[in-house]
Amino acid sequence: MKTPTLPPCDYTPRPYTGPSADEVLAVRKQFLSPALFHYYKKPLMIVEGKAQWLFDEQGRRYLDGFGGIVTVSVGHCHPHVIAAVNAQNELIQHTTTIYLHPNIALYARDLAAKMPGELKVVYFVNSGSEANDLALLMARAYTGNYDLIALRNAYHGASQSTMGLTSHHTWKFNVPHSFGVQHAIMPDTYRGVHGPDDPEAGRKYADDIKSLIQFGTSGQIAGFIAESIQGVGGTIVFPDGYLKRAYEHTRAAGGVCIADEVQAGFGRTGTHYWGFETQGVIPDIVTMAKGIGNGCPLAAVVTTAKIAQTLATRIHFNTFGGNPVVCAQGRAVLEVIEREQLQANSLKIGNYLKSGFAKLAEKHYLIGDVRGLGLMLGVELVKDRKTKEPAREECAAVFEKARELGLLIGKGGLTGNTLRIKPPMCITTADADFMLEVLDVALQSA
Ligand SMILES: Cc1ncc(COP(=O)(O)O)c(C=O)c1O
Repeated sequence: MKTPTLPPCDYTPRPYTGPSADEVLAVRKQFLSPALFHYYKKPLMIVEGKAQWLFDEQGRRYLDGFGGIVTVSVGHCHPHVIAAVNAQNELIQHTTTIYLHPNIALYARDLAAKMPGELKVVYFVNSGSEANDLALLMARAYTGNYDLIALRNAYHGASQSTMGLTSHHTWKFNVPHSFGVQHAIMPDTYRGVHGPDDPEAGRKYADDIKSLIQFGTSGQIAGFIAESIQGVGGTIVFPDGYLKRAYEHTRAAGGVCIADEVQAGFGRTGTHYWGFETQGVIPDIVTMAKGIGNGCPLAAVVTTAKIAQTLATRIHFNTFGGNPVVCAQGRAVLEVIEREQLQANSLKIGNYLKSGFAKLAEKHYLIGDVRGLGLMLGVELVKDRKTKEPAREECAAVFEKARELGLLIGKGGLTGNTLRIKPPMCITTADADFMLEVLDVALQSA
């Protein structure tokens, strides 16, 4: 098999003069949390990025197939985004909302314009966990109810309250964190009891929520939260009709519906700007982070005026939320997605990749499932297609080999046997061909 060649790139990284990767690793080990993990047996140091390209300290170029964990939406160091941030940095970096500043106001207006229905009030925070924390507060304060329904296999953050929503033992510390949170069955047509050929799968999975409300709560709930596509959990796309029915059960029990768009939002699914739109629903609260800022600490919660009113009964404040610099960055990101038609590109390249993965599945028995929408894709590896035993070690081997060949991707699912492909939305057909060639070689050698 011939070695895949990276598509050409006319960007030259600057010479790197800082400490070596080994030195950085040693300092990191000494001064940073022992819980920090790194990808790859030999950790990779990335010192520069341009569009879909990443460069290590030796100047070696990689295709970024994971976008800094689904965060670099419009491409690394996009010139329009950098210009907006630099301009703002020279004027003023921080004020807080105790003074007026145009950036937060104009950005909230532009972001609200992207939202359907009554979702018109924006809160800015700094991370996805913080956004979900705030959404929980809103749901509980607004409804006067306490219980929340989340989904098994979900990831909603690592703060004390969002750890309770997150549903992977690997991310949960053995401390009290889940009061009032119940986890419904994950609507996974690949591994779950209702398969892809069952046209009623969506309804059947959603009916577990009704049962959970009846058997696990007082009958009245604060809300239901779900990622629009489960990301960390291995790119689980819900069957048609799932969220519609889930929302009906939630609202019938007095709850509000929260969509976590931290990974799926901003056009990544290709067909729609927001992941929840692929399920034909309108939530009451939407949380967003990661791709919203293309790499800066920016996140948001958008809700209705009626729900927002509840939080006006107390002082609610966030020091960095809506900072002038990140708002300049967020607004520039919205403009780039529009101008460069990145949603349409996600659809085009995403479909191309998906059919390429399906072709690879004809050849590589390791591939158990190919799924996802737009540029939020997952390839689940199994040792045996019948038993679906997770091919964890093989997945790690493919992942390492891909890096060796110049492609960086992610890994996910409870057992880490799903390859996650979620590149910046600016990738091209030539990049997709390279990805497919690399995975072909890597799967061959696994
Ligand atoms: C769907 C989802 N929600 C929330 C979060 C938490 O975001 P953060 O790490 O910014 O707190 C993540 C992070 O991976 C996520 O994937």
